[in-house]
Amino acid sequence: MDKDRKRIEKMASGFMPARILLTACELDLFTCLGSESLSAGQIAERCSCSPEPMRRLLNALTALGLLSKQGEKYSNTRATKRMLVRGRPGYLGDIMLHRQNLWERWSKLTRIVKTGEVPPKKRTAGRERRFIQGMANLGYYSALQTARALSSELRGAERLLDVGGGPAVYACVFARKYPELRITVLDLPGPLRYARRTVRAEGLTGRVRLKSCDAVKARTLGRNYDFVFMSNFIHSFKAPVASMLVRKAGEALKPGGILAIKDFYINPAGTRPVFAALFSVNMLVANAGDCYSRSRVSEWMRQAGVRPVRYTTVGEHSGILIGRKT
Ligand SMILES: C[S@@+](CC[C@H](N)C(=O)[O-])C[C@H]1O[C@@H](n2cnc3c(N)ncnc32)[C@H](O)[C@@H]1O
Repeated sequence: MDKDRKRIEKMASGFMPARILLTACELDLFTCLGSESLSAGQIAERCSCSPEPMRRLLNALTALGLLSKQGEKYSNTRATKRMLVRGRPGYLGDIMLHRQNLWERWSKLTRIVKTGEVPPKKRTAGRERRFIQGMANLGYYSALQTARALSSELRGAERLLDVGGGPAVYACVFARKYPELRITVLDLPGPLRYARRTVRAEGLTGRVRLKSCDAVKARTLGRNYDFVFMSNFIHSFKAPVASMLVRKAGEALKPGGILAIKDFYINPAGTRPVFAALFSVNMLVANAGDCYSRSRVSEWMRQAGVRPVRYTTVGEHSGILIGRKT
C-alpha cells in the first residue's frame, strides 16, 4: 500500500526534476559554467538572471547530481561537462531544447483528451532547428547500433534509400561502415540543409546524395533500390498515410531488396513497452501519428509485396522490422 502511494506521488512530482533540467538548458547554464567553479552571483550575471532564484536552481541541480558544490562555488559534473556543454562531441543540449517545446505541447494534454481537438503545431525556424539538431544529437549512437544490427542485410547492398533521413547521421554512419554503399537521403528541404553540412563535414558528398522530396505527396520515392530504410519515420503519420508510405517504400525496391523499418513498436493492446505507450501520447499532442504494432506494420509490408523476415531490437526503445521484396 505504502509502496503504491510512493510510486504515485513520485510519478506526479516527476515534472520537478524535468523542469529544473530544462530551465538550466534554456539558460545554457552548463555552457556558461564550462570548466570553471563560480558562485551563484557570478553564474546569475553570466546567464542574465536574478541571483536568489539562481541560487535555488543551482542547489536543486546539485541535489539532482547535475552540478557539484564546494563552499559557495558550483561546477559541472563529468557528465554535464560531456553532454550539456555546447561544442562537445556528446552534446545533448539541442534535444533538451526540443523537449522544452514538447513540454509546452504536453501541457495541453487534458484539454486535448477532453475535446479531441489538437492545436496545430507551431512551426518556427527556431523550433525546426532544435528538432533537427536534437535528432542529430541522439542519432549518432543509435546509428552505430543500427549499422551493427543490420550488418547481414547491409553487407553487399549498393543502393540505399533513407526515407525521412533527417540530418543524414544514419547515412554517414552506414556509408563509413559499408564502403560499397551509395545512399540517397530523402527528406524535406529544412532538414536537408542541415544534412548537407553533415555530409560535407564527413567528406561523403560523393556517396551520400540528398533528395528533397515530400514523401507523402510524391507519386514515387524512386526505383530499383536494393535497400530502403525508414527510421522513426512512420510514427509521424496517421495509419492510412503510414501504410501508404510503406507501400511506396516497397515500390522503390527491386525484387529481393530489403525494407527495414525502425521505430518504437508497441504491443497490439497499446500498453507496452512503457516508452512506446508514452510516445504514442507524444504523437497525439504533436498532432502527428502514433506508435504501431509489429503485426500491423508487417501487414502493411505484405500489402506492399514485402515479406517480413526478421525483427531485431536496437538500443533501449527501438525495434527494426525487416522484410524482403518478393
Ligand atoms: C523523427 S525524424 C527521423 C530522422 C531520422 N530518420 C532518425 O531516425 O533520426 C522524421 C524525419 O522525417 C521527415 N519527414 C517528415 N515528413 C516528411 C515528408 N512528408 N517527406 C519527407 N520527409 C519527411 C522529417 O523532416 C524528419 O527529418
